[in-house]
Amino acid sequence: MRVLVTGAAGFIGSTTAELMVSSGHEVVALDNLIAGRLENVPSGATFVEGDCGDMDLIASLGRFDACVHFAGLIEPRVSMEQPELFFQNNVASSFRLLEALVQSGVERFVFSSSCAVYGNQIEMPIDETRSIDPLSPYGQSKRMVEEGMAWLAKLGRIRTASLRYFNAAGGTLAHPEQHRPETHLIPLALDVATGQRDHLEIFGTDYPTPDGTCIRDYIHVSDLADAHLLAIEALAEHRDITLNLGSAVGSSNRQVVDAVERVTGVDLDVRYVERRPGDPAAAIASNAMARDILQWQPHRSELESIVADAWASRLQSGQD
Ligand SMILES: NC(=O)c1ccc[n+]([C@@H]2O[C@H](COP(=O)([O-])OP(=O)(O)OC[C@H]3O[C@@H](n4cnc5c(N)ncnc54)[C@H](O)[C@@H]3O)[C@@H](O)[C@H]2O)c1
Repeated sequence: MRVLVTGAAGFIGSTTAELMVSSGHEVVALDNLIAGRLENVPSGATFVEGDCGDMDLIASLGRFDACVHFAGLIEPRVSMEQPELFFQNNVASSFRLLEALVQSGVERFVFSSSCAVYGNQIEMPIDETRSIDPLSPYGQSKRMVEEGMAWLAKLGRIRTASLRYFNAAGGTLAHPEQHRPETHLIPLALDVATGQRDHLEIFGTDYPTPDGTCIRDYIHVSDLADAHLLAIEALAEHRDITLNLGSAVGSSNRQVVDAVERVTGVDLDVRYVERRPGDPAAAIASNAMARDILQWQPHRSELESIVADAWASRLQSGQD
């Protein structure tokens, strides 16, 4: 297949583009490099620097069998300060992209959505039938794109898959987890292990969880990449699917710190500070629907494997 991958210089997009190339697909990797890194783009892909909302650019790239749309701003906290930017970049640009794709006859569209659409849920695990209640413009931007996509699918314009990731983590030797700015717990903890940061802050110790720290569901980026290939295939049969992608296992912040200390052999300077407003106590996916519809199986998403791979990819990339 000929596939357009937007956001292909980012963490999840580059890992997925690499898997697509190695599976024999022709990949056009589009990124405006506002947060991604050129060296992330797999060598077997054709790189195009540009904005996913540039309709003329998209039209000039020719016809694709499918588009996987990772491009977006990713930080909920920043979206509370700059909501306009998120609606512009994540929503308006996504619909311009969709319009260009529909005009050129692309049939399948896979979108990076997020568990942020669920907001603060009390009962775990969270399945896809839960109420939608985003707590930030970031989460709202994902929901707005999902809703528009559902209409396009219903009206027969394009087949669509919304994949709601929980916490992407891990890394491959070619693609370490790295964000600009970095806000994700595992890479921050590894920064402390390598001496790039002097301490790690954990926000809140009085959540209603067994050890008082927040619980999240970490999913290995390679397991996420597998799910995207399967989602493209599944759109041959399905017109519109919405699926959680998580490991279905919760790990507390303290458990993550312990795993990083075990894997790296370094005692981290951890400072336990006040809760941050808006952080839900827990977010754990039910992944039954993805297993069923995609025949997907997360293989690498045990916390210890995720941290070990993140550490190996960090050492390989020389960020230490
Ligand atoms: N990392 C996670 O845990 C997580 C969880 C849920 C959802 N997601 C979603 O997955 C996607 C990928 O996340 P990531 O962690 O790889 O982030 P990332 O920042 O590493 O990658 C995003 C990429 O998109 C590019 N980009 C942003 N806006 C663009 C635009 N308008 N045109 C072209 N390129 C643009 C950036 O330069 C970057 O390379 C995002 O849409 C994010 O919201 C991520």
